[in-house]
Amino acid sequence: MKFFIDTANLDQIREAMDLGILDGVTTNPSLMAKEGIRGDENIRRHYVEICQIVEGDVSAEVIATDFEGMIREGEALAALHPQIVVKIPMIKDGVKAIKYLSSKGIKTNCTLVFSAGQAILAAKAGATYVSPFIGRLDDISTEGVELVAQIVDIYRYYDFETQVLAASIRHTMHIIQCAEAGADVVTCPLQPILGLLNHPLTDSGLEKFLADHKKA
Ligand code: G3P
Repeated sequence: MKFFIDTANLDQIREAMDLGILDGVTTNPSLMAKEGIRGDENIRRHYVEICQIVEGDVSAEVIATDFEGMIREGEALAALHPQIVVKIPMIKDGVKAIKYLSSKGIKTNCTLVFSAGQAILAAKAGATYVSPFIGRLDDISTEGVELVAQIVDIYRYYDFETQVLAASIRHTMHIIQCAEAGADVVTCPLQPILGLLNHPLTDSGLEKFLADHKKA
């Protein structure tokens, strides 16, 4: 399972990279705005900076919602850096844009996916990644992880090459549940990733080992 970090914060991306477990980055317009990145030029520069920190795929989302606009933006984003993956929303024109961009060899990430039907369309259109949002489904009393498992099953059945990228991860258990469900990728904020490190028996065990070593 690949680990992507879901942030536009360069320090957090560097910290995850330093840990040695980072395979890529996802961003969205909300995450870019949270870092105060505004204006086309600054946004483009920021994506390139992220690509220079990490080695893997970096998802950059289009703002347009019409086919022509998404194609234009998608091609411009893809031209920024070979690591850029164009993130396209799961809407009718989005499906058409994914089909078009993937036929041109441009990697895509179909975002805002909340059902198996939407995931089937994304795969049929040739998306590189499909992003089911599990936290937002949990928010409306629907088991988000079940959707991840359902998509994984369907894709395996038909040998779809689209990778299941579990998104909207809110806590450490989500990561473990996505691993159990067979997600290809999880994208999460830094804290849930760091949460995987924690176990009180590790801490007390280490404390005892060091105390015994001092006594010896
Ligand atoms: O990758 C999508 C993610 O950023 C959405 O997360 O927590 O806003 O639902 P959240």
